[in-house]
Amino acid sequence: MIPEETIEQIRQASDIVQVVGEYLRLKKRGRNFVGLCPFHTEKTPSFSVSPEKQIFYCFGCGKGGNVFSFLMEHEKMSFVEAVRLLARQANITIREEAGSDFRRQAMERLGYANQVALEYFQKTLGRSKYGAVLQKYLKGKRRITDTAIEHFALGLAAEDWDGLIRYAAGRDLTAEDLVKAGLALLSEKRGNYFDRFRQRLMIPIYNLSGKPIAFGGRTLKKGEPAKYVNSPETPLYVKGNVLYGLSHARDFIRETGAAIIVEGYFDVISLWQVGVKNVVASSGTSFTAQQARLLARFATDAYLFFDADSAGQNAALRSVDALYDAGLEVRVILTPKGEDPDTIALKYGSDKIDELIHEAIGFIPFRVRNTDVASAGIVGKEKLVKELASLGARIADPTRRSLFYAEAADVLGVDVQILHGGAPQVKAADEPATASRPKYDRCEFELVSLLFNGPGSIDTVFDTVAPDDFSSKELSRLYAAMVNQYRKLGAVDAGRMLDGVQDQDFASLLSEIVSTDWPADRVDVETARMLEQMRQRKQAGIRARLKEELIAATEAGDEERASRIQREIQGYGLDADKSQN
Ligand code: UTP
Ligand code: MN
Repeated sequence: MIPEETIEQIRQASDIVQVVGEYLRLKKRGRNFVGLCPFHTEKTPSFSVSPEKQIFYCFGCGKGGNVFSFLMEHEKMSFVEAVRLLARQANITIREEAGSDFRRQAMERLGYANQVALEYFQKTLGRSKYGAVLQKYLKGKRRITDTAIEHFALGLAAEDWDGLIRYAAGRDLTAEDLVKAGLALLSEKRGNYFDRFRQRLMIPIYNLSGKPIAFGGRTLKKGEPAKYVNSPETPLYVKGNVLYGLSHARDFIRETGAAIIVEGYFDVISLWQVGVKNVVASSGTSFTAQQARLLARFATDAYLFFDADSAGQNAALRSVDALYDAGLEVRVILTPKGEDPDTIALKYGSDKIDELIHEAIGFIPFRVRNTDVASAGIVGKEKLVKELASLGARIADPTRRSLFYAEAADVLGVDVQILHGGAPQVKAADEPATASRPKYDRCEFELVSLLFNGPGSIDTVFDTVAPDDFSSKELSRLYAAMVNQYRKLGAVDAGRMLDGVQDQDFASLLSEIVSTDWPADRVDVETARMLEQMRQRKQAGIRARLKEELIAATEAGDEERASRIQREIQGYGLDADKSQN
């Protein structure tokens, strides 16, 4: 629906280095920029972005694409959403062709439903009818300021059964749309729809781009068993991939290199209110590997700031594995008894928070804090040695790992060698993401990659090599697309080819091929060499087929046919130039 030229224009106006740089740290290396791949766990950067080719490619996991594919993959956007986003940034107006209906895209519709719900909840909170919730509860009891209410877009779900459903109907959303977005439910018994969230204070949850994708709803009633009701997972909201507060906190985290991890929504809000803004919430579950990686894109240090009760402290313990895996340095803030970050912030202000951050301890001292190591005995110590040894084994950086072991040995009063030996299987630093990737025939792969470097013989190649000549289905498909594009535009353009490619595997393959750098003076020579190899292979294939036919003819006693095939085989063997059919 968006004209092809507009897409092309938007892509050319966008810089992939800048766009990718919004989401991860990139360092210049040679002609490219490199960073830690956001699509798999790794500790040494193999994710490369080429400003010249305007593509990204990870040499570790093989993911790749252009600026649109990056946003699609990373932000879970549709192609159209990615195009729109970059168009806005580049100040390009999209004039759509007839028949367009942006709401047709399911993901966009889910996002739209959440956006409408956010509006509705905010409006409801502002109604004088519910002034008590705002004045007494939020501003009174919880001491949340107007600025914070506005910043976190807090809202209210009132007591009626279908307030949101009715409001959303006026915004072109059906009850069914709301069910898909996790905002309404269908009553099995009565067959009618009703709002999921009722009589709750509504806290929107955002994706990294700052769009609402879900809600947490806090009860306003005393004694209600479910303190929070949260949106269920939808294609837009995958819990393990989201960190509450990150879209607001990311710049502050990047600035300081430190991220404070709290448990609750209200901890984030109260800390923000006193000026501590590099804060995200784990939302009551232990950190997933994905969440830790997300954080590691912006932070180097993670400060765990959990409730003082034992549930909070256990949550701290459960989170460390993922954080160490992601390469983060873990420190623990000691929360005074009976308090949580929310109450400390509001009671004592930011000076107290700064002091607590300053006094935060490393994970090792935190772990042994309630253990009398000196009198722990051999069995007690053995357990700790094993635990810390395997945690240390997760640290990919060898220097940091050694320092971790040295500290653990010191704290436990054991020889450092015991820790090195105590580590069970040393976990591989990077996931074996390459294992599942298909390997391609070298010659075919290189020929295609050379063609992106504009060899002089490009016409000859397209005239003589057919898509069918490729043994791999993927390369054959790519090659066919190149021939098409060349015939249409008079050039092959990988960036353009990637527009609208929905198939991530195809985008990755294309990016991998395009990332292969060829010195300009080798391109023609290498192309000729690959072309010759392809030709010889094709001939060998034909010969093999003819030989089979020859055997069949001989067995059938068809002498005339056999000698005709024989002559043909010789022709292929001796006269190489007659190879083309
Ligand atoms: P808390 O009970 O600490 O919540 O749970 P809180 O946000 O600090 O709320 P207040 O201060 O009591 O009002 C921590 C987090 O665990 C999740 C929520 O994300 C909450 O913010 N949680 C907790 C749930 O999802 N459901 C629950 O029933 C309770
Ligand atoms: Mn709380």
